[in-house]
Amino acid sequence: MRMFIVATLLASVCTAACSPDPAEPAAVVSAPVHTTADPHSYADPASARVEHADLTLDVDFAGRVLRGRADLRVRAMNPQAGELVLDTRDLEIGKVSLVEGTSEEPLKFRLDARDAILGSALRIALPRKAAGQGTFTVRIDYDTRPEASGLQWLAPELTAGKRHPFMFTQSQAIHARSWIPLQDTPQVRMTFNGRVRTPPGLTAVMGAARAKGGKSARAEFTFEMRQPIPSYLMALAVGELEFRPIGARTGVWAEPSVVEAAQREFADTESMLMASEKLYGPYRWERYDLLILPPSFPFGGMENPRLSFITPTVIAGDKSLTALIAHELAHSWSGNLVTNASWNDMWLNEGFTVYLERQIVETVYGKRRRDMEDVLGLQSLREDFESLEDRDELLTPDLKGRDPDDAFSEVPYEKGYLFLRWLESKVGSEKFATFLRAYFDEFAFRSVDTSQFLAYFREKLQAANPQQFADPQLAGWLNTPGLPADAVLPASNALQLVDALREAWQKGQRSAAKLETAQWSTHEWLHFIDNLPKQLSAAQMAELDRAFRFTDAGNARIAHSWLRVAIRNHYEPALPRLEAYLVGIGRRILIKPLYEDLMATDWGKEFARRVYAKARGGYHPMAVATLDPIVQGTTK
Ligand code: BES
Ligand code: ZN
Repeated sequence: MRMFIVATLLASVCTAACSPDPAEPAAVVSAPVHTTADPHSYADPASARVEHADLTLDVDFAGRVLRGRADLRVRAMNPQAGELVLDTRDLEIGKVSLVEGTSEEPLKFRLDARDAILGSALRIALPRKAAGQGTFTVRIDYDTRPEASGLQWLAPELTAGKRHPFMFTQSQAIHARSWIPLQDTPQVRMTFNGRVRTPPGLTAVMGAARAKGGKSARAEFTFEMRQPIPSYLMALAVGELEFRPIGARTGVWAEPSVVEAAQREFADTESMLMASEKLYGPYRWERYDLLILPPSFPFGGMENPRLSFITPTVIAGDKSLTALIAHELAHSWSGNLVTNASWNDMWLNEGFTVYLERQIVETVYGKRRRDMEDVLGLQSLREDFESLEDRDELLTPDLKGRDPDDAFSEVPYEKGYLFLRWLESKVGSEKFATFLRAYFDEFAFRSVDTSQFLAYFREKLQAANPQQFADPQLAGWLNTPGLPADAVLPASNALQLVDALREAWQKGQRSAAKLETAQWSTHEWLHFIDNLPKQLSAAQMAELDRAFRFTDAGNARIAHSWLRVAIRNHYEPALPRLEAYLVGIGRRILIKPLYEDLMATDWGKEFARRVYAKARGGYHPMAVATLDPIVQGTTK
């Protein structure tokens, strides 16, 4: 289904005269002209578009509730529109009113029945005078529920410092609606102001500028976001937080006991920012800071604008997992600036971002490391292919009627990346970089779907090279499961050497202790472990563990890979570590495979259930939603 969105031509560029007055936010908004409907939102942006939100949030840790007031400035797009439809999930709506200056007029509203995936549409009746105006302001007073899918509330024991509680949001893909009533679709962008009241002793941070000059009382924090963003990038965290600078525009927030290790680990962030700008044009968000979350954070990272949220499991001590920072930073172009129009087009966010990430890694750390990360990425993709249904191997799946969280896999990431590498191989990397840079400029602060990308690509690159991009080839990448036969696959000399040593050990030619591994980085270790034969004897497991101390690995990725081998081979000495790992970490991709592996064995089911019962209370609602069916044995 296609729909037409009339272009709103709001004042187009933010000049030096751009007003800092929040009532007149940065005017860089422009709407997409023509795009497919978003199957994951009830909103109808063709009738009315939220363009600014004024949020007041009271953080109640005891009740696990955000008490919110959202003043939404809405642009009327259709004078006949009788209602404004917002997305919500599990919100308690108190009152809805039309605000004009100091006067407030109550508005009738209805909360639809709850859909398990989409939540409840909030339908607000609009008086004719509102719909007929340029803009109007709707005020919604509401509370979140303790089980809000986009929030995690952590008791002090689950933090590094163990003295203060912590809370954070995770809005992607469709969880913003569980803490703010909004048009929760990446097709609508808005600016916002935030006022957050917290208990004393805690600090609030948002993916926004901290407002200067405002009269902040103690424990009240104010924020201002002047670049328009889609709802899935709305972000807030509250905890015992400190800041340390990294470079002129970069820094890190974390709990006091973590902040210095984080500052050292991520010392290359400023260089990454400079490398990115050189390749893809100016960074449009002024600052780039990191927030290190407690270990229950369900993702590796989340690209909240100006403030990426980062798992502490990448603090390895040797900067070996910092590609994740390159990735979240890269989203400042691919995703946050040029945004997928719906989650069906997620590869436009994630595939492009992996492409940028690998370019940044090559610039900052060299080609050897980039090649290894390319090869490790391909292996993860192939592993996913083994269990995915055909429809989930497409770059543009149809997720209508499905929860985008359930369709999560490496496909938009690594297959999307390989598609871009294939395009790059046809035109040469320089031309392709120029193309990408122009694409980011052309679509800045807008959303695009795959057909819009293809149209732009055809105009800029294919026209000059028609024979290189036959339509069936492009369609093959987009609409066929697996990888096309002419995909350009990465290779790494360093990892080939690892293969040779592993084989020598397998054949009994060399003992583990005699392998030359002294110079190996995390990448080599991961490749070594991930490609061990499926079955190993107890003696072989013990030999590896004695030589390399895998069970005690401090690096969470290495531990994860080893624990999978340990489960497969029922290697009992690793089980206490496995239990501690599963209880201590909530990052979904680091625990889901372990539970799946356990559930695939006879002895492991019992172990998984026991440990899960202990760990579940510390996991994020999104991790729980993924893991419950696995551990209950209700997924295949
Ligand atoms: N935007 C994603 C995280 C995400 C994806 C959240 C889908 C919700 C739904 C983020 O940029 C990401 O891709 N994180 C990866 C790390 C990356 C290096 C591949 C992760 O969390 O593992
Ligand atoms: Zn990403």
